[in-house]
Amino acid sequence: MGLSKVLIVAFLIFFKVDSVFNNRESGVVIKSDWDTDAFLDSFGLLSKYGYSPERISVTTEDGYVIDMFHIPRKGPPVLLVHGITDSSDGWLVLGPKKSLAYQLADAGLDVWLFNSRGNRYSRKHRDNLSRKEYWNFTYEEMGTQDLPAAIDHILNVTSQEKLSYVGFSQGTTIFLVMCSMRPEYNNKIELSILLAPVAWIGHLKLPIINVVSRNVELIHSITNSMGLYELFPFRFSKAHRSLNCFRLYPISFCNAGYYLHFGLVNSSNISPDRIAVIDSHIPAGASALNVKHFIQGYSSKRFQRFDYGLDKNLKVYSSKQPPSYDVKLVTAPVSIFASEIDWYSEVNDVQILKSRLPNVKRFIMLNKSLEFSHLEFVYGTHVQKLVNEPVINILLDDLNMRL
Ligand SMILES: *[C@@H]1O[C@H](CO)[C@@H](O)[C@H](O)[C@H]1NC(C)=O
Ligand SMILES: *[C@@H]1O[C@H](CO)[C@@H](O)[C@H](O)[C@H]1NC(C)=O
Ligand SMILES: *[C@@H]1O[C@H](CO)[C@@H](O)[C@H](O)[C@H]1NC(C)=O
Ligand SMILES: *[C@@H]1O[C@H](CO)[C@@H](O)[C@H](O)[C@H]1NC(C)=O
Ligand SMILES: *[C@@H]1O[C@H](CO)[C@@H](O)[C@H](O)[C@H]1NC(C)=O
Repeated sequence: MGLSKVLIVAFLIFFKVDSVFNNRESGVVIKSDWDTDAFLDSFGLLSKYGYSPERISVTTEDGYVIDMFHIPRKGPPVLLVHGITDSSDGWLVLGPKKSLAYQLADAGLDVWLFNSRGNRYSRKHRDNLSRKEYWNFTYEEMGTQDLPAAIDHILNVTSQEKLSYVGFSQGTTIFLVMCSMRPEYNNKIELSILLAPVAWIGHLKLPIINVVSRNVELIHSITNSMGLYELFPFRFSKAHRSLNCFRLYPISFCNAGYYLHFGLVNSSNISPDRIAVIDSHIPAGASALNVKHFIQGYSSKRFQRFDYGLDKNLKVYSSKQPPSYDVKLVTAPVSIFASEIDWYSEVNDVQILKSRLPNVKRFIMLNKSLEFSHLEFVYGTHVQKLVNEPVINILLDDLNMRL
């Protein structure tokens, strides 16, 4: 084994030990009313701030049970779709004055918060599956199964023909997968807003991505043999740790992870007064196979279906290489927001996507001088001016909701 392989094995063992350690709870002193948000789920947050939510389960054609949160309003429906290892909480944790979900409801839109299979809210299945069978999915199934089930349900109960879509990161990936694999769903989309879109990721800037992508098969066989089908699970007990860390240590210490994983340039760009609450709600779970699918996209520099290896590809796809997702079929209107310094939704990759989409209505590239990194599209201090206000304006304009 080479050094990098040894490091990977060591890291995975640490990961397993860490996950056991983190399940222990420790005491914490609540200092303010906001601190209690760290312990509330989407339903609890919406209830606390007076938004009277509903929790709704829908079952996909392949039997996965997907849970959404609904803020009922009279206006046209809008679906908000979170990123990888995140959940509906992401659209709520900055509170009513800053997070998009509340503001869309305040503007009169009927707001639906999605949760993809495997995250903290969508963990059930119609059948009695083994864990290995349950976790056998990637973003392809989220796009071809979870989203269509959610959209059909919303259109049915609201008696509408179309809805508006706002996705962040993986929430854009699965939109593109849906509209290219099941093109009939384009007709159910009034407009879509893609925040930090992730499709082609050959230019991904994550520091460890080279080592990881070169060893992806090894990592996968180790995680599989350890029974780690789920990565980055949600832990309720993390709320204690988050509140304590950000109270006891300098913010840059607790923030190190944000820089390492997400390219945060200026730590004051993630709301310092909300960071413990944000941190307590993420990660919210992902399948190991989903992570592998994304890593394949980095290695292959293609936006393509899951790569099973030569033999199985021939069987499943009748071709040696997995087919690409054909984004020319995404005929629904698309508005794109991206940032020049984003590591995940990298400028060159976003340009590839833009050049292939047939119906781009707007393209907004945030200047690098704004130091706007990936997570800031949902969690940033400057999210209000740079994202939420323009997003709400687009919706009000395109839905003819101006008074
Ligand atoms: C579900 O399956 C497991 C093993 O696959 C079995 O032990 C268990 O009894 C089953 N439960 C039900 C309710 O069928
Ligand atoms: C996972 O899904 C693939 C493709 O649908 C299938 O070939 C495979 O047998 C499944 N594996 C498990 C463990 O269910
Ligand atoms: C639509 O709603 C009706 C009644 O509200 C229900 O009977 C039907 O199964 C629903 N269809 C879908 C696709 O959800
Ligand atoms: C970080 O941003 C704040 C305000 O947004 C600014 O005052 C500060 O100078 C920035 N720090 C660095 C190191 O860029
Ligand atoms: C980006 O911002 C810098 C500094 O504010 C400015 O000089 C530059 O012209 C801007 N670039 C674009 C493309 O707007």
